[in-house]
Amino acid sequence: MKEVKLPKDFLLGSATAATQIEGGDMNSNWYYWSLKGRIANNESSIVATDHYNKVLEDIDLMKEMNHDIYRMSIEWSRIEPKEGILSKEGIRHYQREVKLLLDAGIKPLITLHHFSHPQWFEDMGQWTNKNSVKYFLRFVKVVVKALGPYVNEYCTINEPNVFLNDTFMDGKYPPGKNSDVLSYFKASRNLILAHLRSYKMIHRIRKEMGYTDTAVGFAMHLTHFELGVDTPLTRLSKNFIDYSFHTLFLKGMVDGHLSFPIGNCYPLGRGRFCDFIGINYYSRHFIYPSYNPVLLFGQVRVKGNLPSECLTDLGWEIYPEGLYKVTKKVYDKYHLPIYITENGIADADDRKRTRFIYDHIAQVKMLIDDGIDVRRYYHWSLLDNLEWNEGYSPRFGLVKVNYDTLDRTIRNSGRFYGDLCKNKEVNKEMIERYF
Ligand code: FCB
Repeated sequence: MKEVKLPKDFLLGSATAATQIEGGDMNSNWYYWSLKGRIANNESSIVATDHYNKVLEDIDLMKEMNHDIYRMSIEWSRIEPKEGILSKEGIRHYQREVKLLLDAGIKPLITLHHFSHPQWFEDMGQWTNKNSVKYFLRFVKVVVKALGPYVNEYCTINEPNVFLNDTFMDGKYPPGKNSDVLSYFKASRNLILAHLRSYKMIHRIRKEMGYTDTAVGFAMHLTHFELGVDTPLTRLSKNFIDYSFHTLFLKGMVDGHLSFPIGNCYPLGRGRFCDFIGINYYSRHFIYPSYNPVLLFGQVRVKGNLPSECLTDLGWEIYPEGLYKVTKKVYDKYHLPIYITENGIADADDRKRTRFIYDHIAQVKMLIDDGIDVRRYYHWSLLDNLEWNEGYSPRFGLVKVNYDTLDRTIRNSGRFYGDLCKNKEVNKEMIERYF
């Protein structure tokens, strides 16, 4: 096993999302989704890890693991629990949280939409509503003003592609639509517009407040697609799927270009609407033939017959090389700074996570050596958490959460990661200690 040395100014930390860890919020669409029994084992977002009350304790854990950076999301329903009504308590809570992070020497990156929103927004058809962008911008404005002096970095939307797929095609996220292609594209358009307008607005508001160091981007889920069988149909299908899952959103959110089937125009003019591109990378997928046009003539699956050591607890293939491939492809196209905004593994007994981190960081190092401007790595996740409709059984944390007592324990892989954050390298001593 080789040593891996990252540049000394490379930043490392972890990522979370409000709904998955905070608990206590009864106004978000995910709370209502829990009430409908749509989360595995009838689980609920109501307690999660109680991070809302354990912010200090969790920042101590980040400190113990030598984090430089932390990516977190703001729960819209805590800021605006009822349409047009703001909660001072919610705003104060996040102001306190980001101040505490800064006091701990940890730089926050704030996600504004991470798969959740208020139930009142859900009730009006969420992102398919023609006024959805307007409502979102009103919320963003409140947040950016409130966090003014403390936060200069924002991630507008998390994984528009996965969110829309699981919401309108796969029935997993509220409102649980299946194969609703029309809503999928309507909402895609609105999400892209929400990003473009937020990008402009955040820059403008912060400039008016006298700050010039603003950075705005979004977090894009990228997977590496391969052909399960090589036929003309699967080749065509791979192009369709790659286009509608990746290209449509990248073109839209980076270049401001709405393209087929959601338009053919630059609604805010030509330009760049990202200061960095966030990449969430987990796995690769294979495309097998299908005659279903709604699936774009392809079934997307994990490669068959993989031995269990190659799979995570969720059955996702562990494929570190994919991180190199997807990142290089995006960088070669856009030449923008890259943050790896998520990468991690469901691994309850922590037998694979240390190696997983090592192998993915080795790919990051290769990217940097090849001239790709990768600047940060946020591990998913700080804590075990609510894996959306899958519930609490997938364990993604560097820190283990005991859901009976809510006690936290840093896993062995968390110790390894803490040393990596501190040293910016995996050195001989760490290899001996952890492998
Ligand atoms: C990503 C999500 C994140 C988490 C990980 C495992 O798609 O952005 O919230 O659920 O997957």
